[in-house]
Amino acid sequence: MELMDMIRNRRSIRKYLKQPVEREKLDLIAEAGLFAPNPGGRQGTRIIMLDDPETIEKIGVVNADCENRNWDAGVSKDQPSIIDDKSIRSGFYGCPALAMVCIRRDKKTMVNPIGSAFVCAQNMVLEAYALGVSSVIVGRAEATFARPGMREYLDRWGLDPDYMPIVFVCLGYIDGPYPAVKTRNEGRYLYVGR
Ligand SMILES: Cc1cc2nc3c(=O)[nH]c(=O)nc-3n(C[C@H](O)[C@H](O)[C@H](O)COP(=O)(O)O)c2cc1C
Repeated sequence: MELMDMIRNRRSIRKYLKQPVEREKLDLIAEAGLFAPNPGGRQGTRIIMLDDPETIEKIGVVNADCENRNWDAGVSKDQPSIIDDKSIRSGFYGCPALAMVCIRRDKKTMVNPIGSAFVCAQNMVLEAYALGVSSVIVGRAEATFARPGMREYLDRWGLDPDYMPIVFVCLGYIDGPYPAVKTRNEGRYLYVGR
């Protein structure tokens, strides 16, 4: 598939089979993140990949609890989020693998840390799509690991204490049919010529 078709067709998926994602695919998805553009060429992000469903579920419940779930509008009808369906307990939707993109805790010592993390995540979701793996980008990482006892996970995994996760990428095989492309709102692109 052409890159543009992948960009058009990729969707955020929130219904996953329990089927694990192959290690080789997880490594390729992480590598795509590592090859993302990065301010000043500093390669300042770090990626943690976790594929233990029990731990993912525990962290996911804390993640969902960090969100105010009473938004004034829904997010997705075909792939309901924790905003749309209050019975969903985990902000990671039962995905079998979870990537965490990390930046320096002291944000001042890194150029554009949040932008760096999100372009990394975007590369990862596109590579995942190319490999037939579904995904969704999930926020609230800072808030999740700020909760009591949560930093211990990062210490156990050996993340440099100067770093913290800023964004999650849920990964897994879709449960059900792949949703259709969302149409784009009009008037978002202005070509001004020469
Ligand atoms: C910065 C960012 C943060 C996001 N955070 C969440 C999130 O916390 N939970 C979630 O279910 N989806 C999250 N999403 C996914 C969006 O809801 C999704 O991209 C949007 O609804 C458009 O749907 P689509 O990706 O299927 O086109 C996030 C996306 C971005 C880019």
